Amino acid sequence: MLSNKVKNALNEQIQKEAYASNAYLTLATWCEEKNLDGIAEYFYNASNDEREHMLEIYKYLNTYGGSAHIKPMKDTSVKLKNLLDVFQYVFDLEHEVTVAINKLAKLTYEENDFATFKFLEAFVLEQQQSEKGVNELIDMIKRVGYDDKSLFYLNKTFKKNEEKKAQGAEAGKE
Ligand SMILES: [Fe+2]
Repeated sequence: MLSNKVKNALNEQIQKEAYASNAYLTLATWCEEKNLDGIAEYFYNASNDEREHMLEIYKYLNTYGGSAHIKPMKDTSVKLKNLLDVFQYVFDLEHEVTVAINKLAKLTYEENDFATFKFLEAFVLEQQQSEKGVNELIDMIKRVGYDDKSLFYLNKTFKKNEEKKAQGAEAGKE
C-alpha cells in the first residue's frame, strides 16, 4: 500500500499531467487560428498523450488504496508572439513536468516504495525523450525561421510527422 505522502504526491502529479493536457489544447487553438492545422495536430496528439499519463497515474493511485481526483485548474491561456515562442513555452512546460516527476521518484525512493519508483521509471524516461524532441523542434524552427513561407513549410512537415506517427501506432497494434 502507498504511504499518505506518496498518495498526495501522486495526486499532485495527476494535476500536472491534466494541466499539461489542457495547455496543449490551448496551443492547438493558437495554431488553428493561424491556419496551421499540421502543427495543431501535433498539439492535439500531445494533449492526448498527457491525458494518458494522467489516467495511468490516476488508475495506479486508485488501485493501490488512494483516492484520485482532479482539482479545479488554473487557466491555461497564454500570450505567445510566434511559433518559436510557442515551442519555448512547450519546453518550459515539459521541463516543469520533468522536475516534478524526478521529485516524485525521489520521494518514492526515500519512502522505500520501490514498486511506485519502478512504476515511475517509464515517466522519467519519457520526459527525457520529450525534452529532447522539443529541443529538436526549437532548433528546426530557429534554422527555418517563422515567416509566412517558413510556416507553410513547417506546417507541412509537422503534418507529415503526425501522419507517420499515426501509421506507426497502427502498425504497432497489428
Ligand atoms: Fe506527461
